Amino acid sequence: MNAERFAEVDHWIARHLLAPDPVLDAVLKANAEAGLPAIDVSRIIGSLLALLVGVVKAHHVLEVGTLGGYSAIQMARALPDDGRLVTIEANPRNAEVARANFARADLVRRIDLRVGQALDVLPGLVDEGHAFDFAFIDADKENNAAYADWAATLVRPGGLVVIDNVVRDGRITDDSDTDPQLVGTRSLYAAMRMDQRFEATALQLVGSKGWDGLMIARRR
Ligand code: DHB
Ligand code: MG
Repeated sequence: MNAERFAEVDHWIARHLLAPDPVLDAVLKANAEAGLPAIDVSRIIGSLLALLVGVVKAHHVLEVGTLGGYSAIQMARALPDDGRLVTIEANPRNAEVARANFARADLVRRIDLRVGQALDVLPGLVDEGHAFDFAFIDADKENNAAYADWAATLVRPGGLVVIDNVVRDGRITDDSDTDPQLVGTRSLYAAMRMDQRFEATALQLVGSKGWDGLMIARRR
């Protein structure tokens, strides 16, 4: 492992492939100033999420776990003008920071921020009749299997569900490591494997956020 080099290459890719983005830079600065942990997706994974939102021609995106809104902004920008992103954040302080960031990014009209525990908010989205084209799950890992189950209900056939942090420095494979977040994510793997509603795989990733991974599932 060479964490420093992985981070360097991440930043090199961003510099050599992506346009400078003062808004995203300002979002990370605002998050840091507000004391939010720097556990957002990396810049290049944010661009991957945006690219996938475009691939599925999404009009309607769901995010579980807003934090400061760094990923939500990148996904919302990939939507058409009449598109909408619903993002759920349990921590009201995070939500407040995210709300300011959405204004900073001029995306207030396109982003619907719901403050509450996702397991309380998600049933309401079903009642409201939402059908999402894309979902990104990046919240408390203990509930990952439950979030994927809600995503199966809320995402339309052909839509994509992406779940963050499914490798965690390789700790995912060590069953003697019973960190509840790892246990939750192992349950996600077990549920996905059995779930006929999804075709799923997972990618290991290295970069500025260390060694981790994404699960990518297609709603059948
Ligand atoms: C951490 C990273 C994440 O991407 C996340 O969603 C939660 C926690 C972490 O590194 O602790
Ligand atoms: Mg994450």
